[in-house]
Amino acid sequence: MSSSPLGLTEITNLLDGADDSWLFKGAESICSHVFGGEVFLRAIVEFSSHCRKNCLYCGLRNSNKQLSRYCLSPARILECVQSAAAENIGTVVLQSGEDSILTPQEFACLIVQIKKETNMAVTLSLGEQPEDDLFLWKEAGADRYLLKMETFDRELYGRLRPGCEFEKRLHSLTVLRKLGYEVGSGIISGLPGQSKEGLARDLLELTSLELDMISVGPFIPHPDTPLAGSAAGNTLEAMRAMAILRLLNPEANIPATSALEILDPGARSLSLSRGGNVIMSSVTPDDVGAGYNIYPGKNAVALEVREKLHAIKSDITLSGKFFSGNRGFSKRKD
Ligand code: 5AD
Ligand code: SF4
Repeated sequence: MSSSPLGLTEITNLLDGADDSWLFKGAESICSHVFGGEVFLRAIVEFSSHCRKNCLYCGLRNSNKQLSRYCLSPARILECVQSAAAENIGTVVLQSGEDSILTPQEFACLIVQIKKETNMAVTLSLGEQPEDDLFLWKEAGADRYLLKMETFDRELYGRLRPGCEFEKRLHSLTVLRKLGYEVGSGIISGLPGQSKEGLARDLLELTSLELDMISVGPFIPHPDTPLAGSAAGNTLEAMRAMAILRLLNPEANIPATSALEILDPGARSLSLSRGGNVIMSSVTPDDVGAGYNIYPGKNAVALEVREKLHAIKSDITLSGKFFSGNRGFSKRKD
């Protein structure tokens, strides 16, 4: 098989399992070459489950009235961030549904405080937000922004994300880069209605964006959504997609996603030897964490930050890699 760049047919065949051994070995070899076995941890604080949108696949969708919503105060968010800093985690990801309970100014103050009190990189994952606010938060010290496209199939996007505009979201990625953020995006594999060739196209489109971080995680049906009865994504296919992304994007930060671990316990550690170099771990307080119910299983096990980290560190060791307290900035800029 030829080396990358891979074409659409080759990628589709690889997603179908044409040559797993070649694919996974190649992804591991590139990953080790670029990162030298270093695995970065990102602590996620899921500070608000409020969302104005209604994505058909997501448990936080506005129409899900089964969910009791919460929003943490800035003081509580800061406590979570400090608990992660105390464990030598280099990055915090502040994530929420797409809604504004905290004002943009309150949020900017929080970022300033985090940067003052810790040495952590700050990633924001707040959905589509006005450019003025994105600018304000960048000025306040935010380093990165994560905005997943979810799928590049425009028709599927329109169906699964009612009221959302594909082109507008894509444009936000350009705005984020212009503002100086490191930019991340990603997709869900195995979405109902997604074809293998569609997934292959997604991987090529993601690659053409030259992202600093890229993720692919399998679809998990949520019982309180219109997609409750759909089949879950295939975890082997999701791992193949991740490995292909590594071949196409040697220097990108690519996480071993939690959705993968939920569907297939053990997959997280395996992913670290198949192209993944990042693990994201929730440090949302237990009393609200289970309410951040994007998909079943998310934050289901209530563990102290230290215990969670211990489990993650053993996964990392199991994969032959080592945990790094570094902030893990993008290699694309080197
Ligand atoms: N299965 C898998 N991933 C999902 N997400 C949302 N709902 C699901 C689901 N049912 C992912 C999306 C979103 C992130 C917060 O969680 O990629 O961006
Ligand atoms: Fe809201 Fe994001 Fe879930 Fe869509 S995927 S409903 S925007 S939290």
